[in-house]
Amino acid sequence: MSHFSSSDAPAVTIPLLQQWARDGRRLVVTTAYDAITARLADPVVDMILVGDSVGNVCLGFDNTLPISMTMMNHHLEAVARTRPRALLVADMPYLSYHLSLEDTLRNAGGFLQRGAKAVKLEGGGKRLATIRALVDCEIPVMGHLGLTPQSVHAMGGFKVQGRGAEDALQILEDAHRLQEAGCFALVLEGVPAELAARVTETLSIPTIGIGAGPHCSGQVLVLHDVLGLTQGHRPKFVRTYVDGFDLLQQALALGRGCALRRLSVCCRILCPAG
Ligand code: KIV
Repeated sequence: MSHFSSSDAPAVTIPLLQQWARDGRRLVVTTAYDAITARLADPVVDMILVGDSVGNVCLGFDNTLPISMTMMNHHLEAVARTRPRALLVADMPYLSYHLSLEDTLRNAGGFLQRGAKAVKLEGGGKRLATIRALVDCEIPVMGHLGLTPQSVHAMGGFKVQGRGAEDALQILEDAHRLQEAGCFALVLEGVPAELAARVTETLSIPTIGIGAGPHCSGQVLVLHDVLGLTQGHRPKFVRTYVDGFDLLQQALALGRGCALRRLSVCCRILCPAG
């Protein structure tokens, strides 16, 4: 059976995604930040996330905090131009949903006007009023709990969350509050597998795990990690299927060799005595 969806496969909607999760079909999500990565991902995934991870993956930042709405809009527009069949979700960057409800609604609504079908934002109890306001304005929201990268300094680094009983209970409670506030799905990042399993079996919305064990309704991975394009630290849970960086560098070296040979032939033709 082909892993690729046929071009006439239906567009993935939120109700369809939720139905698939209820039917026990595992949801496949990756990031994409531009037209080429969107075209690579779209035939194989159910949801494309234009993540603020573009900051560390593509733009050379140490974390996601410097990412602005202008940057996110730029990347979202590039992905949206490919008209993906997968559900297109845009990540609300740091400070785009913290200042005022009006600002938040304008930023999130702007994502929808640029082609996103939903937005994602990080955090638990503190975000309930924001999530309710977005949902009231017909903006579907995906929550994000556990290791929330925009809280890197508050967490004291990129650390697994919910290891202690109290923290685990807090994440479980937050998950239920996010569901009640109207989230259509929930990312669980960097939490113990047993906690992710407990959240998943007690929620009716799908959970999408990353570094959260095998028991979520689906998994999300950074596309550049899967393709082996990211250099330096690669999270332990990422299974890389190809060493894309090495492969592409070898291809470039081959191309460079050919180009140099062609150049020297040209030189010999132009200046035979040289
Ligand atoms: O920004 C991102 O890519 C994310 C996923 C890793 C969940 O938030």
